[in-house]
Formats: sequence, C-alpha cells, structure tokens
Amino acid sequence: MKTIGFRTLSHAAILALLFSAGARAEEKASGSVSEQELQAKLSYCQTCHGVSAQGFRGSAPMPRLAGQQPEYIENQLKAFIERRRTNPVMNNVAHVLSPAMVAALAAHFNSFDPPPLGGAPKDLVPMGKKIFEEGIPSAEVPPCASCHGEDAKGNGAFPRLAGQLNDYIIRKITNWNKERGLDPSKPDTSAMMEPFTHKLTPEQLAAVAAYVSYLK
Ligand code: HEC
Ligand code: HEC
Repeated sequence: MKTIGFRTLSHAAILALLFSAGARAEEKASGSVSEQELQAKLSYCQTCHGVSAQGFRGSAPMPRLAGQQPEYIENQLKAFIERRRTNPVMNNVAHVLSPAMVAALAAHFNSFDPPPLGGAPKDLVPMGKKIFEEGIPSAEVPPCASCHGEDAKGNGAFPRLAGQLNDYIIRKITNWNKERGLDPSKPDTSAMMEPFTHKLTPEQLAAVAAYVSYLK
C-alpha cells in the first residue's frame, strides 16, 4: 500500500467532514482503526460466524452476529477479554483486540441483514411464541418480549434474539451460570437473565429457541 502523507490525511479528514453524517459516525467509532484493518478483522470473524455473520453450524453452533445490538456485542467482547464470560475460542479471539477495534467491530454487525439460518423444529414454534410473549407465570419466567422487544430485535444491552441459532440459544441458557457473570466482584448485565435460566423445562427452552430462530 502507498504511504499516506500527513497532507493527504488531513485532506481526507476534511472530505470525511463534508461527507454524510453516517460516514462521520463510522469514522468516530473506528477510532485509531483503519478501514483496512477493520475489513481484515471482519473477514476473520466471518470464517467462524458465517457469511454476513449469519451464524454457522460447525463443531459448535457459532452464533449469528448480524443485526446484533452494538452495545451488546461490545459488552460481550469485553466480558470475554476480562473472563467474566468464558469460551475457550472467544477468550483467545477477543484478548488481542484493542478497545478501538472492539468498538469498531461492535458497530459493524448491526447493518448486516442475511436471512435466518433456520433448521429448528417447526412444530415447537407456536408454544415458543406463547412463552416469548407471555412468559411462564407458574414457573416465574417473565415474558422474553419484555426485555428483548416484541420483535426480538433487542435494544442496547438487551441482545437481538431474532434469527439466532436455536441450538446456540439452548446451550447458552442451559450453561448460563457456568459461562457468564464469572467475576463476582464485577457484576454485569448477565445477572438479568440468571434468575430464571434454570426454570424452563428442556421442551419449553427448545420451543422458545425455535420460535425466535425463525424471526427476521
Ligand atoms: C475460531 C472461531 C471464531 C472466530 C474466528 C470468531 N468467533 Fe466469535 N464466537 C465463536 C464461538 C464458538 C462463539 C460462541 C461462544 C459461546 O458459546 O459462548 C462465539 C461468540 C461470539 C460472540 C458472542 C455472541 C453472543 O450472541 O453472545 C461475539 C460478540 C463474537 N463471537 C464476536 C466475534 C468477533 C467480533 C470476531 C472477530 C474478531 C469473532 N467473534 C471471531 C467462534 C469464533
Ligand atoms: C429482565 C430482562 C430479561 C428478560 C425477561 C429476558 N432476558 Fe434474555 N437477556 C437479557 C439481558 C440483559 C441479556 C444479556 C446478558 C449479558 O449481557 O450477558 C440477555 C441475554 C439472553 C440470551 C443470550 C443471547 C446470546 O446471544 O448469547 C438469550 C439466549 C436470552 N437472553 C434469551 C431469553 C429468553 C428465551 C427469555 C424469555 C424466557 C429471556 N431471554 C428473557 C435480559 C432479559
């Protein structure tokens, strides 16, 4: 690549200012990360998370990141770095990322919009919809929609569940206490799910996971 001189850079900066508000926001989020570094990292992420970060079924289900809330992604990358959340693969992937790269990556997946990967048992969908919208009052499970949104698209620290791989969801809720909120001195957003993760029966969990996995 040709070396970019200081003069050219400031020229580029002025051009960026004259450009759209969207482009300015992107530049700010990237911080000290160049577009080239970001694109290289994004392709690396997609080797596991699938084309357009749609999710991928490999040796383990690789979660969909497409359309995910930037704040949630940033929280999770930080949790992997600080080992509040454990996963051997992602602990290794995340700990080399600079804070600027974490922010830039987190901002990027939100604009991807591939269709859901699918593959969940369809007969469970109606039961899952009911649990998602109404919860399971007899078991003190609150409606998922009350936090994740009516359309399961999430908001801020509340993750999008729409289009997420059902097998990934089942594993995460089953193993919640063993994988998240692992530093008692640093309580985090995982505490909001914890009280009821063990209250769903395997069938109820499979149902709600199937329902959200088909949402666009
Ligand atoms: C070698 C495979 C691999 C690579 C490369 C990889 N990931 Fe992951 N990622 C995983 C797996 C597996 C999980 C599921 C972890 C779990 O089960 O808790 C995951 C989970 C995540 C999560 C949590 C998602 C959620 O819904 O909670 C985020 C965020 C994430 N990865 C971001 C990234 C980013 C950003 C990159 C690129 C810098 C990346 N990953 C590269 C395998 C990979
Ligand atoms: C009180 C608010 C609240 C309710 C109710 C709630 N969630 Fe969550 N959920 C959260 C928060 C916050 C997170 C992010 C946790 C973190 O940061 O580790 C989350 C995370 C998740 C995750 C992990 C997503 C991922 O990509 O790894 C799944 C799966 C999930 N919720 C499913 C459900 C289901 C199913 C229900 C209904 C039975 C439900 N949630 C109800 C707040 C809630």
